[in-house]
Formats: sequence, C-alpha cells, structure tokens
Amino acid sequence: MESEKAEGSSAGSEQEGNILQTKMSRRTFLKLSAATAAATAAVTTVGGIALKSRGASNAQSTAQTTTDLFAAVPITLTVNGIPYTTTIEPRDMLVNVLRENLSLTGTKRPCDRMECGGCTVLIDGKAVYSCTTLAMRMPGHSIETIEANNITVTDSTLAALQAAWVTYDASQCGYCQPGRLMAATALLKNNTSPTVDQIKAAVAGNLCRCGTYNHVIAAIQAAAASL
Ligand code: FES
Ligand code: FES
Repeated sequence: MESEKAEGSSAGSEQEGNILQTKMSRRTFLKLSAATAAATAAVTTVGGIALKSRGASNAQSTAQTTTDLFAAVPITLTVNGIPYTTTIEPRDMLVNVLRENLSLTGTKRPCDRMECGGCTVLIDGKAVYSCTTLAMRMPGHSIETIEANNITVTDSTLAALQAAWVTYDASQCGYCQPGRLMAATALLKNNTSPTVDQIKAAVAGNLCRCGTYNHVIAAIQAAAASL
C-alpha cells in the first residue's frame, strides 16, 4: 500500500509539475498575447502615424511598436485660440495634456474612465470627454476649455452660462461644473431655446455628487433666454 501510495504521490507530483509547467506556459503565452494585442491596437488607434516599421519581423516590430508607444513626440494643439507646442507620449489622453503639459487645470478628471463627464471640453464645438480622447488626434482641431473666457476667446454662450450659474446657485463643491458648463455650451451653441428634456439629454453625461441638477436646468434655461 505504502509503495502504491508513494507511487501515487510521485505520479501526483509529476502531474502537479506538468500542470505547473502548463500554467507557466499559459501565463507566458497570455503575457505575449496581451503585449501583441496592445501593440497592434496602438498601431490602429494613433491616427495615421506609422509606429511599425514595414519589413521588420513580427518580434522586432512588436518590440519596436511597444517602445514607440512611450517615445515622446512633439505636438501642437490649439486650445482656446492659442497654439501650444508640447511633447507628449502617443498614448497620452487629452485631459492629461491639458492639465499637466499646458497647466490648464480647469478641466477636471474625476473618474478617468468615461463615466462622469467632469473632463468634458469642446472639440470643434462638440462636447467630448477628454479623458478618453487621444491628444495625438487633436492637431488641426479647435479645443475649448472652461478657461476660454479667461484667456483669449470671447465665448458669449459660455459667459451667459457662467453668469446664470452664479445667479441660480448651480454649483456646490464645483468639481463637476467645468465639464457640465462645457456640455451646456455645446447645447446652446446649436439650440438657443432648448426644452427641459433637451437640456436633460445634453447634460445627462455629467454626473454631480452634490445633486445640483435642478439648479443647473434653471441656469441653462436662463442663459438660453439671455442669448
Ligand atoms: S473623467 Fe472623463 S468621464 Fe470622468
Ligand atoms: S457641484 Fe459638487 S459634484 Fe457637482
């Protein structure tokens, strides 16, 4: 019995060794797959920029692409009418470039995952989440942030909303408000007499922990009436 047990135990440890080996191989395989997938996605998402050398072997090109994901590149962005030239990594999101490279910290980054709307800016007049917008895709586009009226742009729509925000006490802690103001600006630029439902739809992607929703709707209605 003992020898059977010993054999069984030896077979067991051999089996465990095989399983371990299989698991290790699988882990290595998964790591390699993830690296390859990330590299491939980067090639397709960094608009129009060839990060991969033609003719390189797969291993070489994967390594090259992974390296290039972190390589600094110069970029010029037009924000609030001003051209800013800075150096970014191709994977950098617009919100990070605005806040960290350009010191435009009015745009907030509450969730960093497309859930709250706090990072909303205008791109060519449309409200966009900057936390999931690659900065590399922004040259040639007009970016407007909550700082617009403090810098060079005179945005009467944003100004009317900011005044109404004060009158209607639409802000409590204020953290969500830059994004909400930009979403409201995008709405009123296209529709100066929105219905309540249209206002709700326009700011539905902007969450507020302080719950100032009714004040925000009243402020947007007042700003629309003043335009
Ligand atoms: S920080 Fe972009 S949606 Fe929340
Ligand atoms: S005012 Fe505080 S989160 Fe909206």
